[in-house]
Amino acid sequence: MDDIWGKLAAHREATMEISLLSRFEQDTDRAARFSAKLGEMLFDYSKTSLDDQALAHLIELADAAGVALKRDAMFAGEKINETEGRAVLHTALRNLDTSVTVDGEDVMPEVRDTLTRMEAFSNDVRTGAFAGQGGKITDVVNIGIGGSDLGPAMAAIALSPYHDGPRLHFVSNVDGAQIAETLADLDPTTTLVIVASKTFTTIETMTNAKTARDWMAKAVTDPAAQFAAVSTAQDKTAAFGISPERVFGFADWVGGRYSMWGPIGLSLMIGIGIENFRAFLQGGAEMDQHFRDAEFSENLPVLLALAGIWHHQICGYGTRAVLPYDQRLSRLPAYLQQLEMESNGKSVAMDGTTLGMQSGPIVWGEPGTNGQHAFYQLIHQGTAVVPCEFLVAAEGHEPDLVHQHQLLVANCLAQSEALMRGRSLGEARKLMADKGFEGAELERQSRHRVFAGNRPSTTLAYPKLTPAMLGRIIALYEHRVFVEGVILGINSYDQWGVELGKELATALGPIVAGDQDTGGKDGSTAMLVDFVKANRG
Ligand code: F6P
Repeated sequence: MDDIWGKLAAHREATMEISLLSRFEQDTDRAARFSAKLGEMLFDYSKTSLDDQALAHLIELADAAGVALKRDAMFAGEKINETEGRAVLHTALRNLDTSVTVDGEDVMPEVRDTLTRMEAFSNDVRTGAFAGQGGKITDVVNIGIGGSDLGPAMAAIALSPYHDGPRLHFVSNVDGAQIAETLADLDPTTTLVIVASKTFTTIETMTNAKTARDWMAKAVTDPAAQFAAVSTAQDKTAAFGISPERVFGFADWVGGRYSMWGPIGLSLMIGIGIENFRAFLQGGAEMDQHFRDAEFSENLPVLLALAGIWHHQICGYGTRAVLPYDQRLSRLPAYLQQLEMESNGKSVAMDGTTLGMQSGPIVWGEPGTNGQHAFYQLIHQGTAVVPCEFLVAAEGHEPDLVHQHQLLVANCLAQSEALMRGRSLGEARKLMADKGFEGAELERQSRHRVFAGNRPSTTLAYPKLTPAMLGRIIALYEHRVFVEGVILGINSYDQWGVELGKELATALGPIVAGDQDTGGKDGSTAMLVDFVKANRG
């Protein structure tokens, strides 16, 4: 593959002076040629420096990396997570009519069975057939972290117009502030707590679960009866005291950050109902089908990945911003931070060798238009180029506020246009001269108003943020991570990089508590421990 990377680098070198705007002037068909659709979903990557040649080389790269073969292996249940010896089958959670075999066994009957149990429980909670000591459940608290929190928490906000069940709350942080504030407003007799943890060992989740159980025990005779669990570790859920009929299991072939489609989505299902949850799954399945069937040149996840590789590994841009012009996607950047950075933030290739290139980029972002009044200054005029990934719906959910939605859309389109177009020194001079500036002051003031322009962005546009559309969007990004991971030669499905901090935190626990001294710790860590001990009440 080295020769293809070389061709890409050479092509970048040869074309980097061509402005984005001139690409549109030279090719009036550029927008149509550098965009792709899945049904009514439009992915526009024409405001990037990708051209026919770059795209051809990138597709060559994807072919050489074996993206199609590995994609098929993933869907077929092969153990592509080689460092953990696991299949990667979150797609099985949303393609319910297929059959997938792992270790010679069709895994689908169990997937369907668990979904049926989830739906029955969800309906019972929503109708009141399952009740708390004080009556119908009014509030559901999902206790989980990382993949056991971010997916349903993000989707609960995204799909709030479809929410008609009990109120949903999400507690993740071991900082007691979060659970204390959440529980303070709730009635324990009508609250259901879902402990969501793939391993059921995560310290934050288990600590919060115990706090919730103690809180409930003060008012409820049988607190465990108002607990449910979602986990792969059913021995541990039993040890915690949760009855098996309210335990929803899943297999180790569902990675934490890919798990919202199954039982980890239970809180979401209770909030939006089973039909909406099924529509979400269906949306994900549609993206799967497209990913499997479409030519790479028309394949949204592949194109999104290739744009990512082009920007990060070839152009050398260090980060990418995800900028949803959709307030209800406010947690999408946080969700994608885990999905992308926990998956592809690695320095060792699948075969154990050192990665010979940059791993996945830093992903960050905030919804528009808020970000415009915060960090867009840097995006427009800072020295670092930040490829921006805009998301925008044609229609909002507020029929009385159509004018506001139109303003939102105008702002989104204006930003990608401004990033591309920029403002030259000549234009800035004219602007300032019209305001009465002249001489050296005209020059100085004008230079501050120059926008280099030529800054790349992509836009994902969709009609409306429905459950099905959210499913498509999330599956799109999942497959993008897969394609980038395959091209980089990374295992996107392990996360060894989170372990060291966990180990050291466990060792520091008794030291911070004052049960052990700081002997053996470095000077900085020992000083910080001493400071905390000296300054707590
Ligand atoms: O520490 C990282 C991680 O393992 C994530 O990959 C995972 O989503 C999260 O912790 C939570 O893990 P669990 O669901 O096992 O509690």
